[in-house]
Amino acid sequence: MEKRTAVVTGAAGTIGGGIVEQLLRHSRRIVMVDIDGGRLNEAAERFPRDKVTAIDCDIGDESSGARIREFIASLGWRPAEILINNAGISPRRNGQVAGALEVSLEEWNHTIHVNLTAMLLLARAFIPDMKASGWGRIVNFSSRAGRTNVGTSGPAYVTSKAGVLGLTRSLACDFASYGITCNAIAPGLVDSAMTRALPPERFKMLLDGTLVGRPGTATELGATAAFLASEEAGFITGACVDVNGGRSML
Ligand SMILES: NC(=O)c1ccc[n+]([C@@H]2O[C@H](COP(=O)([O-])OP(=O)(O)OC[C@H]3O[C@@H](n4cnc5c(N)ncnc54)[C@H](O)[C@@H]3O)[C@@H](O)[C@H]2O)c1
Repeated sequence: MEKRTAVVTGAAGTIGGGIVEQLLRHSRRIVMVDIDGGRLNEAAERFPRDKVTAIDCDIGDESSGARIREFIASLGWRPAEILINNAGISPRRNGQVAGALEVSLEEWNHTIHVNLTAMLLLARAFIPDMKASGWGRIVNFSSRAGRTNVGTSGPAYVTSKAGVLGLTRSLACDFASYGITCNAIAPGLVDSAMTRALPPERFKMLLDGTLVGRPGTATELGATAAFLASEEAGFITGACVDVNGGRSML
């Protein structure tokens, strides 16, 4: 069978790179998507050109899903049957997040839009092709912050990541009968650009509570996503996989 096509958002980021690397091990063709065109092209250069390509776009833009679909069609690849919604933001000023009393409405709306609403927009763009093929996999990146009390992640990020779990269950219910699964991943502390921007004392506090004694790696997160996107994961839907080194057991 012709290789299935996977769309990975936030593909220029740390975890995005691990996802692409692991999807390649599952023989997928991959479209890397990111808003940062420069870092995206640099990231894509690490991978074989006949199997991995890249398109820069803002996933918060309602037309992005259609643009990505057209791009895939222009390559002559199969329509996307795998969507990995990995892109996410955690706005900070001087390493600090805005609390409930300070967060501007603009920052609140933007965080919810990129972290949650964009997942719905992309799912809407690709589900019709998945329905037509009778097979699909959607994997949404939540966070430990969306699962339980993590203290200082800020209300906008926490709310967006909790919302991801609701959206995941809703899509899982609505499309299971078409062979489409939808699951979430809730990472704990991962060694990444996002966590290196944390104040050192906060990073240490998160690390101290991680039972395995180290941050997770992009490869470990990527392997979880690639498994949930595999043929063998067809009986898993509506689930949230906690990948947090034992930081919390839910
Ligand atoms: N790193 C961690 O410890 C951690 C923990 C919990 C959850 N997560 C989640 O995992 C996912 C990946 O995190 P990461 O650590 O790799 O982050 P990262 O900052 O390294 O990568 C995120 C990528 O998303 C891209 N992006 C942001 N806004 C976008 C937009 N509007 N359109 C397209 N692309 C956009 C960025 O350019 C960046 O390349 C995120 O959803 C994050 O919330 C990460």
